[in-house]
Amino acid sequence: MKPASIMDYRELARRRLPPMFFEYIDGGAYAEVTLRRNVEDLEAIALRQRVMRDMSVVDLSMESLGQTWAMPVGLAPVGMAGMYARRGETQASRAAAGAGVPFCLSTVGICSVEEVASAGTAPWFQLYMLKDRGYMRALLERAKAAGCPVLVFTVDLPVPGSRYRDVKSGFTGATGLSGAANTAWQGMTHPAWSWDVMLKGGPHTLGNVQGAIPDGRRVNDFLGWIARNFDRSVTWKDIEFVREVWDGPIVIKGILDPEDARAAVRAGAQGVVVSNHGGRQLDAVKSSITALPRIVDAVGSDLEVYMDGGVRSGLDVLKALALGAKACFLGRPWAYALGAGGEPMISRMLGVIRSEITTAMILTGCNDIRTAGKALLDG
Ligand SMILES: Cc1cc2nc3c(=O)[nH]c(=O)nc-3n(C[C@H](O)[C@H](O)[C@H](O)COP(=O)(O)O)c2cc1C
Repeated sequence: MKPASIMDYRELARRRLPPMFFEYIDGGAYAEVTLRRNVEDLEAIALRQRVMRDMSVVDLSMESLGQTWAMPVGLAPVGMAGMYARRGETQASRAAAGAGVPFCLSTVGICSVEEVASAGTAPWFQLYMLKDRGYMRALLERAKAAGCPVLVFTVDLPVPGSRYRDVKSGFTGATGLSGAANTAWQGMTHPAWSWDVMLKGGPHTLGNVQGAIPDGRRVNDFLGWIARNFDRSVTWKDIEFVREVWDGPIVIKGILDPEDARAAVRAGAQGVVVSNHGGRQLDAVKSSITALPRIVDAVGSDLEVYMDGGVRSGLDVLKALALGAKACFLGRPWAYALGAGGEPMISRMLGVIRSEITTAMILTGCNDIRTAGKALLDG
């Protein structure tokens, strides 16, 4: 199958990946209400069609946090991407650089920040706060030394949300002999993935945090390790700790409430990502797109407001921009594309998003993305 829409990349990833990794990417928390809302609330927004306006030139480029973006889209941090394709984070980073958009590397990526930076372009770096502050300080220094231009501090995961699919697939909780047998069986029944990732794609460690994993370099019980090591005591005061090391822009990711957005401004952040972690954390919270307008009203003139969650097409990107987002980040779309076929598939997927944004701009009469606003919406 030649993939056309994001859902086609999803289907290709479903066929190629062992179920434990596909379900980990695809799933959300609890009954997945928020995961569905993210997509459905975007779908429900109507664009306003306009015709007969000279649309021979359309400009998708914009500036944000000192960088020029070829279009208002970035690749969101996604953990363990090196388990979906060989050295997955470096592949994604190259695809993003080729498309002229930022790639944000997860704290819990397989490839380290040094490996990704040396593959071409220093990524944005996403931080999860571990209890071990000495390790955190060293990690921030590594990100800085690698040349990362922006720090994305994710604040909506003091504890992992309960994800039923990960229990059923054996991604979490299935340790010991039966866990090992399940993993081996999933590998054997997905030979193309096994060849690419297990045989050619090692080491399978969490490159940024392996020094913080005392009992060896592998993480067998990934979500259990997170639950034990992520710091629930974090407050806005901890931004001061981050600031001791990090003097570049800080983006706070995981904001859904205008009060928290104002706190991010007071803490000196340069941006926020309106996000519910793709419906993977607190199920039953509102969709990102629903939360977006009030946050833009509250802090839009103070810092950059990005959004992620449920963006599945270029049309969704334009809708989010019309509601005040500066840019959108894609999570699952690039993870699906990576699982479907690595860097070439991510490049292709970004090409699809680009052409969909272009089409939507032409048919809404918007020839400069920087002017996108409420006038592009119908009702
Ligand atoms: C498989 C997977 C792993 C993720 N890992 C991280 C992570 O390590 N750090 C982080 O800040 N967000 C992580 N996220 C959340 C994404 O950055 C993003 O907020 C979310 O995927 C956006 O929703 P979407 O998937 O509908 O685009 C992850 C999401 C997925 C799907």
